[in-house]
Amino acid sequence: MNKPNPSIEQELRAQIDPARVPVHIAVTMDGNGRWAEQHGETRIAGHLNGVQPIREVLTAATEAGVKFLTLYAFSTENWNRPKAEVDALMELLVKTLASEVDELDRNGVRLHTIGDTDSLPTGCRTELKKAMDRTKANDRITLTLALSYSARWDILRMVRSIATDIRDGRLDTHAVNEALIAERLSTRGLPDPDLLIRTSGEHRISNFLLWEIAYAELWFTPVLWPDFRKQHLFQAIVDYQQRERRFGLTRDQLPAS
Ligand code: IPE
Ligand code: IPE
Ligand code: MG
Repeated sequence: MNKPNPSIEQELRAQIDPARVPVHIAVTMDGNGRWAEQHGETRIAGHLNGVQPIREVLTAATEAGVKFLTLYAFSTENWNRPKAEVDALMELLVKTLASEVDELDRNGVRLHTIGDTDSLPTGCRTELKKAMDRTKANDRITLTLALSYSARWDILRMVRSIATDIRDGRLDTHAVNEALIAERLSTRGLPDPDLLIRTSGEHRISNFLLWEIAYAELWFTPVLWPDFRKQHLFQAIVDYQQRERRFGLTRDQLPAS
């Protein structure tokens, strides 16, 4: 099941209209634990098998002309998992960053993070900083890893920062608008996602990008993350292109496509 199929992949890729590719795709990579259970392996082995699909989704997004790819890799709530699993995920992050940075750089990927990265172990922070410094001039695609991220954590920070500036007289209440809020979230500088993908058959948001996905198209697949391949990303883009994004308007008001 879910073996890469080059002909399906090429067929789907050919169906993509290059003029209407989502600028920003966000992905909740879910199902590593269930994949491991199905294969009689440990949850940690499930996470190890979650690295190859990251390579695939990044390559597929780059090939399709997507400019921003944001991956939900570790939530604020995930700190409450068993320590051995959390430690293994952090170790995997360090090793993967170290082994992939050359390839990322070669492929024009700029690495970026959102989330409470100060709470990550020192080794992770060091590797992340190295990889971000190394790739900062790249502009083919921005890969944002959401690490120790949750939307409520981000919104809380934003509210505190605005409240403090108002209290100290640096900001007028009337100056608080959508643009200012967006500027104070950790996603500042990133366009809102056009498409949000979640794997593993769960139909929930799990505290991801609550402000930013106001008008994102949602795409769910039962495929478990370790089985996700290029063809699945192409499939999601093809589906996205069949939708009509109305942003509250009537169909008649939309520009002719
Ligand atoms: C996603 O897979 C990876 C992380 C949340 C870090 P899970 O580990 O949540 O896999 P399931 O949901 O238990 O199958
Ligand atoms: C969401 O997956 C977080 C990440 C993929 C990093 P979870 O597995 O943590 O979400 P829930 O618990 O199913 O909502
Ligand atoms: Mg999960």
